[in-house]
Amino acid sequence: MNSWLFKRFVFLLFAFQCLRATPLVEQFKRAGYVEICEETHGPTQFDSLYACFDELIEFLQSNPVWAQKLYIAKERFIRSKDRKYYSTDVFGFYDESERVERGQISFYYSTHFHEFICSHYPEFSQVPELISFFEACLGIQKTYGNLFNTAAAELRLESIFSPIDGHPPILVKVIKYYPSYIATTPHYDGTAFSLFLDSTDNQLLLLSPYKSSFTVDDFYSPPREFTREHDQSSVLLIPGAHLTEFSIYPTPHIVLQSGKIRYATIAFAMRPNYTPQKIKLTPLPSFKR
Ligand SMILES: [Fe+2]
Repeated sequence: MNSWLFKRFVFLLFAFQCLRATPLVEQFKRAGYVEICEETHGPTQFDSLYACFDELIEFLQSNPVWAQKLYIAKERFIRSKDRKYYSTDVFGFYDESERVERGQISFYYSTHFHEFICSHYPEFSQVPELISFFEACLGIQKTYGNLFNTAAAELRLESIFSPIDGHPPILVKVIKYYPSYIATTPHYDGTAFSLFLDSTDNQLLLLSPYKSSFTVDDFYSPPREFTREHDQSSVLLIPGAHLTEFSIYPTPHIVLQSGKIRYATIAFAMRPNYTPQKIKLTPLPSFKR
């Protein structure tokens, strides 16, 4: 571990220890999330990620042959053994910018998908838009593995990740919402944990702790101690739907529409070789006016 990573690991441990006054499981039940203070390592890290994402979107929209090639690569990847490690089929580029109400484009990045593309599709090395975006995602992904391990340890769930290289399987989702995006219904994430890393408008994210019934009024914008403008910021950790057998229930959430462009980055900790439990979660209310 290099010295920067080590310092960061110590910092994250400290951040979690600050939270121990209230056990993590209680905070999830009470508020639905925990806020973790973050050192801002370069105020432009996410800004440059979003700039790379814009370039990739522009490239793939104007070069549908490459978009199709990327889609084929993803289809091949989800037939490989690495797919099981993540327990999902969601990887790569999803352009829903023209779909009614959806109005968004997202990319689901993972290191295994990155390596698969580099080794099976060397021609992508000629696409600097994709390579730069992958490198930006990789930098962010490397930063958060220890945080998930620490959260799992706090909940005594270390064994769920059976980590390879010391990290759980992580998906980094980068999303761009367009003015045409409409908020419809909250959702639960199909993850062990989800970590809201950054957004260009935090206020639009609403969530609620898990309950036996929900109304729209249960959803609120989590107050932040730190904002992106200062030299510290915060990330929010919530439980996903893949921990129910431990009586940890997922935090439903929704992004409100603003009529503007909004970018966000989320890291998902997945469960290796996991088959979702057949349990019925509480239905969620419609936000459509
Ligand atoms: Fe989500």
